[in-house]
Amino acid sequence: TGLTTLDNGFGNTAACKSAITYIDGDKGILRYRGYPIEQIAEQGTFLETAHLLIKGELPTSDELSVFQHEVSQHTLLHEDVKRFYQGFPRDAHPMAMLSSVVSALSTFYQDSHNPFDAEQRDLSAIRLIAKLPTIAAYAFKKAQGHPFVYPRNDLGYVENFLRMTFAVPAEDYELNPVVVSALEKLLILHADHEQNCSTSTVRLVGSSQANLFASISAGINALWGPLHGGANAAVLEMLTAIKNDGGDVDAFIRKVKNKEDGVKLMGFGHRVYKSFDPRAQIIKSAAHDVLAQLGKSDELLDIALKLEEHALTDDYFISRKLYPNVDFYTGLIYRAMGFPTSMFTVLFALGRLPGWIAHWQEMITDPGNKIGRPRQIYTGFETRDYVPVSER
Ligand code: CMC
Repeated sequence: TGLTTLDNGFGNTAACKSAITYIDGDKGILRYRGYPIEQIAEQGTFLETAHLLIKGELPTSDELSVFQHEVSQHTLLHEDVKRFYQGFPRDAHPMAMLSSVVSALSTFYQDSHNPFDAEQRDLSAIRLIAKLPTIAAYAFKKAQGHPFVYPRNDLGYVENFLRMTFAVPAEDYELNPVVVSALEKLLILHADHEQNCSTSTVRLVGSSQANLFASISAGINALWGPLHGGANAAVLEMLTAIKNDGGDVDAFIRKVKNKEDGVKLMGFGHRVYKSFDPRAQIIKSAAHDVLAQLGKSDELLDIALKLEEHALTDDYFISRKLYPNVDFYTGLIYRAMGFPTSMFTVLFALGRLPGWIAHWQEMITDPGNKIGRPRQIYTGFETRDYVPVSER
């Protein structure tokens, strides 16, 4: 019809206007609501960041107390939710459990489905922020075959999540402050990234006026793939494979450059960042610090450093502007904290949740919002006459 311009992968199509997150991909700038990511990661907490993204401003201390209190009042899951976990196979991927249980929340909280009611929107947002750590920790416990640990609302957000994940009932569990503060920082660094694949998915599903739980469940599934949030797990699998192959980094880089079997350097490259990913810079030094403070050395970190060094001086990567992204070093930190690889993308989802909610809310409250409905360039048959099955 002549009306459609093809933009493969939406590389150059703005699907919305947004006041939440600013990225300058050439300069490596990332700001949430105008605040540089470096400052927030250094000084902020995850719940402050969630407040900033969703409500538009950093909270005053009173506002923060109210927000923290509200979140702490909604951390429990309905007891019947536990039965979902009983139904999942033992080796179920935690991302599948996460999206399924979030979707199932919409059956328990039908009182907060109306996206045009501000109170209902706030309530479903609080419920999700409060419950996602519990859902994630239960998924971990399910895989371990261990009993679930209920939330403790006197603890901070990150502390509570770590305890639900790693504590074993009837045994003492001591929180490690190094782990707490590193995880807090990582969640902040993942909290929003404008119109990435999962956030665009949340907006698209939400644009049909589906409820928030349904929209976020779709976002979790979009995040799962190895080109998006799943990259943090894929990086660790890649590093492990290189180590098991004798640690030959040069041979691996050659494979990538020759595009053998579609092998990519996972954790490298970004659609928007073309000089560096500011999150990756913060995370690289955090990886060193956390490993040093936990007294752990990791052969995989050495392989990662060699890979990075090699790639940053190789014309294949330089000419394509490929740099380490947020996922390159996170897996090494999560591993040092004791998380299995399958949980890495779940941690990304915990961090990204406030961003998803903020975008959904921005979209649904925009009076000019329309249902998302891209067009296509049709490449099929023009017209054919139907042939009855007996004559085919
Ligand atoms: N290793 C090797 N080659 C690569 C890589 C990589 N990681 N990334 C891109 N390229 C090549 C690609 O093959 C293409 O080469 P050519 O011009 O010869 O065809 C060129 O660089 C341009 O890449 P593209 O695929 O057109 O770039 P894109 O913007 O569509 O994809 C990306 C971006 C992030 C999906 C991609 O860089 C990639 O697959 N990276 C590895 C997976 C990864 O780390 N994902 C996490 C992204 S950041 C966090 C998040 O979003 O969750």
